[in-house]
Amino acid sequence: MGVLRVSEHLPPCVIINTVVQVLSSVVPEKVHNKRLKQSSRNWVQRQINDPYVAMAKASGYRTRAAFKLVEIQKKFGVLKKSSIVVDLGAAPGSWSQVASTLCKQVIAVDLLDIKPLPGVHFIRGDFLEEATVRLVVDALDGERVDVVLSDMAPNSCGIKKVDHIRITSLVEAVYEFCDEMLRPGGAMIAKVFQGGASPDILCNLKRRFQTVTHFKPTASRKESPELYLISTGFRSPH
Ligand SMILES: C[S@@+](CC[C@H](N)C(=O)[O-])C[C@H]1O[C@@H](n2cnc3c(N)ncnc32)[C@H](O)[C@@H]1O
Repeated sequence: MGVLRVSEHLPPCVIINTVVQVLSSVVPEKVHNKRLKQSSRNWVQRQINDPYVAMAKASGYRTRAAFKLVEIQKKFGVLKKSSIVVDLGAAPGSWSQVASTLCKQVIAVDLLDIKPLPGVHFIRGDFLEEATVRLVVDALDGERVDVVLSDMAPNSCGIKKVDHIRITSLVEAVYEFCDEMLRPGGAMIAKVFQGGASPDILCNLKRRFQTVTHFKPTASRKESPELYLISTGFRSPH
């Protein structure tokens, strides 16, 4: 399979159309390696048979997650050529790849390191820590942000209530950052889990944004509890 590299000249929609041909060549396969645990066999099998994995490989994206943002962009059109974007929870970097092909500037943050990407200023750190937020503000050099993306996900401990509290604090940190740094009219996209945002989060977002919508991209696996809050039309509190 030839590799089609993501470049400034190939917007994601063109890439998708091109790799549709790749999809037709993906034939479901069964994994028979008996040395693997059943759960690992299931994972490998899912990877092999997943058309988004094939598409990501063919288009040079680091992971299939890229197509979630591509779908969000197709439906909501939040990323513009002139946009300054902050991508939170960026590793390994697929959303930053998409954003950097479409936008003017991308600042990416993650607890984990990412391999360098052209046009992306990467900051390694915990977004819940003030020191990391300060580094983002410094990198913005007096500019405001047009779009804040957050695909941040806490490590699941399996206890629903605890996982819910963890993701809630991440979303809160994201909209508090928006209060300081998002341009009026700007957008925030944030991952939430299990049936969407809590009434509290929704209420806080609706006070800040003209529209708040839940969206589950088809690239997000059905069995995954994740979905995205798409908030547009930021009203600055200042
Ligand atoms: C689902 S992955 C993101 C995938 C990414 N959007 C992509 O397209 O490649 C979630 C990421 O959130 C990061 N993360 C979780 N909590 C974080 C925090 N407090 N600060 C920064 N990054 C965090 C994790 O390290 C992980 O890399």
